[in-house]
Amino acid sequence: ASRKFFVGGNWKCNGTGEDVKKIVTVLNEAEVPSEDVVEVVVSPPFVFLQQVKGLLRPDFSVAAQNCWVRKGGAFTGEISAEMLVNLQVPWVILGHSERRALLEKLSDWTNVVLAYEPVWAIGTGKVATPAQAQEVHDGLRKWLQSNVSPAVAESTRIIYGGSVNGGNCKVLAAQPDVDGFLVGGASLKPEFVDIIKSAT
Ligand code: G3H
Repeated sequence: ASRKFFVGGNWKCNGTGEDVKKIVTVLNEAEVPSEDVVEVVVSPPFVFLQQVKGLLRPDFSVAAQNCWVRKGGAFTGEISAEMLVNLQVPWVILGHSERRALLEKLSDWTNVVLAYEPVWAIGTGKVATPAQAQEVHDGLRKWLQSNVSPAVAESTRIIYGGSVNGGNCKVLAAQPDVDGFLVGGASLKPEFVDIIKSAT
């Protein structure tokens, strides 16, 4: 496919420093398809971001779990996009349904990966069927085609999230408009490696 498969691991609000070391060790030792085939990004809680960035293999990267959209200032508890850039954190999860954040209108789609997550599938063990996911991803791509541009519709990766695991990833990955996954619970387990491998 013209779009590189993308697998994001959203660790949400989980773990201790010890857990983080364990997960990173599993990932670092895993044999997975090359970075030409799959892009792997893990998203630890803010407090572990630097640690994970420092320990993680160089072909995987990190994402923050949210950021404040404006410049720094008197916004207690927020972390700005500027800070993430300064720390060389290349990705951020924005507008996750667990935060109900507002996604401002985008003018540049170049570095955007769009995640579709049915709320009923998040953390429930109820995964969308491949046909359901494909239908929505196709609809989103058509939306991009008419509201942004055919080029953006063709190149933007649309990934699925919601109870993805090592057992159900392959059939989902086989859908033409499923370009990867945003994984919650299973991203904290060794089966995350199987999900990465579903890229091929
Ligand atoms: O960001 C990840 C999603 O909310 C999916 O979470 O895989 O635990 O259902 P889950």
